[in-house]
Amino acid sequence: IISSLTLKQKRHAGIPDPANRLCEQDIAQLLAEVARDNQLLVHAHFNCMICSKGQALQQAVNFVESSLFSLGIIPSRNAYNQLELFRASLPANASALKKYDLALLSAKAAACLFFKERQPGSEDSRFLIRFTDRRGIPISIDPADLPMSSGRISNRSKFVLGGSGSGKSFFMNSLVEQYLLYNMDVVIVDTGHSYSGLCAYYKGRYLTYSEQEPITMNPFAFKASEYNIEKRDFLKTLIFLLLKGVNGEVSAVEDSIISSVISSFYALHFSGGEAKTELNFDAFYFYSIQRIREICAQDHVGFDVDAYRFVLRKFCLGEEFGLLLNLATDSSLLEEKLIVFEIDAIREHKVLFPIVTLIIMDVFLQKMRLRDHQRKALILEEAWKAIASELMASYLVYMYKTVRKFYGEAIVVTQELEDIISSPTVKNSIIANSDTICLLDQGKFRDDYTKVAALLSLNETEQKKIFTINSLDNKSARSRFKEVYIKRGSTGEVYGVEVSLRQYMTFSTEKPEKRALESYLKHHGNYQDALDAFIYDLEGSDLSLTEFINQVNTHS
Ligand SMILES: Nc1ncnc2c1ncn2[C@@H]1O[C@H](COP(=O)(O)OP(=O)(O)OP(=O)(O)O)[C@@H](O)[C@H]1O
Ligand SMILES: [Mg+2]
Repeated sequence: IISSLTLKQKRHAGIPDPANRLCEQDIAQLLAEVARDNQLLVHAHFNCMICSKGQALQQAVNFVESSLFSLGIIPSRNAYNQLELFRASLPANASALKKYDLALLSAKAAACLFFKERQPGSEDSRFLIRFTDRRGIPISIDPADLPMSSGRISNRSKFVLGGSGSGKSFFMNSLVEQYLLYNMDVVIVDTGHSYSGLCAYYKGRYLTYSEQEPITMNPFAFKASEYNIEKRDFLKTLIFLLLKGVNGEVSAVEDSIISSVISSFYALHFSGGEAKTELNFDAFYFYSIQRIREICAQDHVGFDVDAYRFVLRKFCLGEEFGLLLNLATDSSLLEEKLIVFEIDAIREHKVLFPIVTLIIMDVFLQKMRLRDHQRKALILEEAWKAIASELMASYLVYMYKTVRKFYGEAIVVTQELEDIISSPTVKNSIIANSDTICLLDQGKFRDDYTKVAALLSLNETEQKKIFTINSLDNKSARSRFKEVYIKRGSTGEVYGVEVSLRQYMTFSTEKPEKRALESYLKHHGNYQDALDAFIYDLEGSDLSLTEFINQVNTHS
């Protein structure tokens, strides 16, 4: 073949008009590739068959031609041997192709048209989450076990990022609903009432923080068998958080003094000696002041006991935040399947927001230990901001590690790009421990995507996929949906979050929709009946959803 090519090249060179020159150059390039890369030359034939009626046929032909053209391929349209070509293109008939229908190509060029990709299908697993593919066809993927066992990911934790209104909470609602159907334990810390519908539907516990009824915990009370170094470190983190705030700095001396105080407090308590006291913040507070004084006197080290006494006093019973750390946790919480902590009321509160978030995380860890046979998920919506600091870093790393070991996952949901990029804590603890990244519409961040891409290790191919989110022409004949890109390990795919009307009404965070459903709730008392009645009336009304909601809201 090579010598006949060389001959052909010479023949073209003999007649130096532009067309011949081009041919000659092509052959020269091909020969160079063969020589340099040891490329195999093959005879190939590709046949594109389109069948349709009338007008549509020409459109399809044009589309195929222009798509091929954009790849640098110019197809030839043959009219003289159509029957022959048709016969040859039937499976197993390729040998009937005549020489004049074969093109000489390098093996690489020939293979590039082999269509190895396929429409994505559902995964083979017993833990599947439903989405739709890009066309709206249902598809299920395993976000946890299968990618773990194949080594694609090494933890089940997830990081969810998207601009405001991009559908993060909606996606999480849909995910959590399916988790619940797998009998998973789910704890959510939310600040925007995004899970109230879901929680009501599945009869979970909805705990709202308010000044009259603060969420109370007693992280100081536990059994001797539960005491270990990690527990001590958690309490130490909590004490420093109370003392210094979330951005405080702790010296080595302070650190060892508090560690030693906690150890001796529990040693005394668990030894059952005369000092056996109740276990709560107050007991620790009074013990610690005395003990710190003793240590300082004994070892001649400095610790500002007066500041300690003064700052921490507000957490004692009878003081400003006295209930928070002294009243026992409702033990039924540890048995509950779905708990939503709604702490919107304190999201701007510098003292309470981080403390409450931290103690909720501790409740989750306790729950995890207690129900270690159960899958479980901790979901932090924006609340992560409260704890993203150096002081918390080691606790966060510890939390992620524990979650992984106990068949759990932590999911951080956020829209705040700047906070993530600028915080090394977030990077090293949250993102480094979340092998699955879920991205909703990233249009808002597009201008400065290199930073996000670097942070989340998104190569160029992945970025291209990401920017197709919600922008394909795939909306017709489908219900309302939004797309999400899910990256498990190093690569990801885009899926649709497309749900039924019942689910839509339950997951939606739009105020008018929530309000309309609430007025049904007032009449029916229970969420499922209210939802049924709402859908029944809507379907009987001949109105669109928006019109129907408007009517309900004006008449209620
Ligand atoms: N998959 C979806 N299908 C249909 N509607 C959706 C979908 N996702 C989001 N929406 C619509 O968009 C609205 C806003 O979505 P969502 O509350 O999830 O946004 P968000 O990203 O959590 O915003 P924020 O940052 O303000 O909390 C929803 O109330 C719903 O009406
Ligand atoms: Mg939200």
